[in-house]
Amino acid sequence: MRHLIDPLDFTMEETERLLDLADRIASDPAAYQEAARHKKLATLFYEPSTRTRLSFEAAMLNLGGSVLGFASADSSSAAKGESVADTIRVISCYADIAAMRHPKEGAPLRASRYSRIPVINAGDGGHQHPTQTLTDLLTIRRRKGRLGGLTIGLCGDLKFGRTVHSLMMSLARCEGVRFVLISPEELRVPDYVITETLGPRGIPYEEVRSLETAMPGLDILYMTRVQRERFFNEEDYVRLKDSYILTAEKMKLAKPDMAVLHPLPRVNEIALSVDEDPRAAYFEQVQNGVYVRMALILTLLGLEG
Ligand code: NCD
Repeated sequence: MRHLIDPLDFTMEETERLLDLADRIASDPAAYQEAARHKKLATLFYEPSTRTRLSFEAAMLNLGGSVLGFASADSSSAAKGESVADTIRVISCYADIAAMRHPKEGAPLRASRYSRIPVINAGDGGHQHPTQTLTDLLTIRRRKGRLGGLTIGLCGDLKFGRTVHSLMMSLARCEGVRFVLISPEELRVPDYVITETLGPRGIPYEEVRSLETAMPGLDILYMTRVQRERFFNEEDYVRLKDSYILTAEKMKLAKPDMAVLHPLPRVNEIALSVDEDPRAAYFEQVQNGVYVRMALILTLLGLEG
C-alpha cells in the first residue's frame, strides 16, 4: 500500500506517469466517470481549506466515487482529544482512501503509519503540500511542454509557504532547473530546503529582494500569499504582507511566454489587472488540480490501468 506524504514519495518517473494520466483524464473526462465507482474518499481537514478539500471531493465525485469527512478540527473527535493515530484507524473502516490536512507538521505521516488505507498529505503546517505540487507540475508541463531546463522564480513567503518547499523539492530532480528566490530577509526559504534539496544536487539558485530585477529572466513566476496564520505576531505580518505585489506594469518586464502560478488563495499579491494577461495561469491551475487528484486517487487505489 502506498501513501503520498512527501513529494519525494513518488520518483520523477512515477510523477511524470501520474501527470500523463492527468493529461489523459483532461482530454476525455467522461471515460473516467465510473473509474472509482463504489470507492469512498475521506477528507480529514483539521485546518481551513476551500480549494484543496473541494478539489479532492470533486475529483472523487468525477470518478463516480463518494466522499465523507469533516472540514474542521472542532467538528471532529480531535475536539475530544482523539489522536490522529486513532482517528485514522477508525476511518480505515469507513473509507478506501483518505486526504488529511493538519496544522501540525508530520501529522499525516504519523497517520499513515497506523492506516490500513492510502493516506494523502493535503498540507501539514508550514511543511509540505505534495498534491499542490502535482498541480503546479501539471500546469508547468502543460504551459511549457517540459519540466526541465526552466528558470523558476518563487516570490513572497518562502519561509512558511509549504507549497514552495514541496515544489522546490520536486523540481530539483529535473535536469537544468534554476531557482530565483525572491523574498524579504525574514521570509527566506528555510535552510533545510537549501542544504537538503539544492546543495547536494548542485542546483543553481540566487536569493534576491527585487521582483522587478528578477522578472526578465524567469520562465515561471510562482507567487505566494504571506501566511498570516503562521506568524507569531500580527505586527510582523502587517510589516511584511505587502512586500510584493505583481501588477500589469511589472508584467511588462517579463518574457512573453512566462507563466504566473499561484496556489491560491490570493490576498493582494497579484493585482486583478494581471488576471486578463494570457500569462496568468492560476485559474487553469485550479482546474489542473482536479485532474491531477483524479489521477492520484486512481493510482493509489491501483485503478489506473
Ligand atoms: C495553499 C496552502 O494551503 O498551503 N493553498 C492551497 O492549498 N491551494 C497556499 C496558501 O494557503 O497560501
